[in-house]
Amino acid sequence: MLVFERKTFSTMSATDIYAVLQLRQDIFVVEQKCPFREIDDIDQVSHHVLGWEQGVDGRKFLAAYCRIIPVYVFHNFPDPAVGRLCTAASVRQKGYGRLIFNEGVKYLEELYPGSTIRIQAQQYLERFYQSCGFKTISEPYDEDGIQHIDMLRPAGTTA
Ligand SMILES: CC(C)(COP(=O)(O)OP(=O)(O)OC[C@H]1O[C@@H](n2cnc3c(N)ncnc32)[C@H](O)[C@@H]1OP(=O)(O)O)[C@@H](O)C(=O)NCCC(=O)NCCS
Repeated sequence: MLVFERKTFSTMSATDIYAVLQLRQDIFVVEQKCPFREIDDIDQVSHHVLGWEQGVDGRKFLAAYCRIIPVYVFHNFPDPAVGRLCTAASVRQKGYGRLIFNEGVKYLEELYPGSTIRIQAQQYLERFYQSCGFKTISEPYDEDGIQHIDMLRPAGTTA
């Protein structure tokens, strides 16, 4: 069962930060074969949602993650965004991706009530994000060798 924690950069422990950066590197750099500067100086101003799971060895591990980015930080977006959505490869297709994304959206709505939400989505997940109430607002474009689209969820939308 996923246990969520909400953190800022300053309330994350060294262990939290190590787990977050390790999971993101495993997925966005290694798995997706994308050599880009994943540690991007946005974490310090973001809010973070950590989804912990109990491993078979009894130790907890970071199974799911996303971050909430304030306005005008990411690509100069005029709306807050949810980003770096990921789940560990060992727990995929169990609903954890949807759970952590919903938790991220809920957290964002509490931080920025009544706000439109913007995401830079990997294009292969367009249908997933549409099912969460997001609409595509850009043509597909390449970023770091991966096709992306910008998507928006107007304030007041319920998925
Ligand atoms: C995307 C990701 C978070 C989904 O995690 P998950 O734990 O498998 O998610 P869920 O089991 O909750 O599935 C949620 C939805 O994701 C979509 N999805 C998951 N894997 C997919 C795939 N390979 N291709 C297309 N859609 C996919 C489906 O729409 C699914 O909804 P459904 O179960 O109603 O069909 C995970 O595959 C991941 O970390 N991928 C690599 C990182 C990444 O691409 N992040 C997104 C950046 S925008």
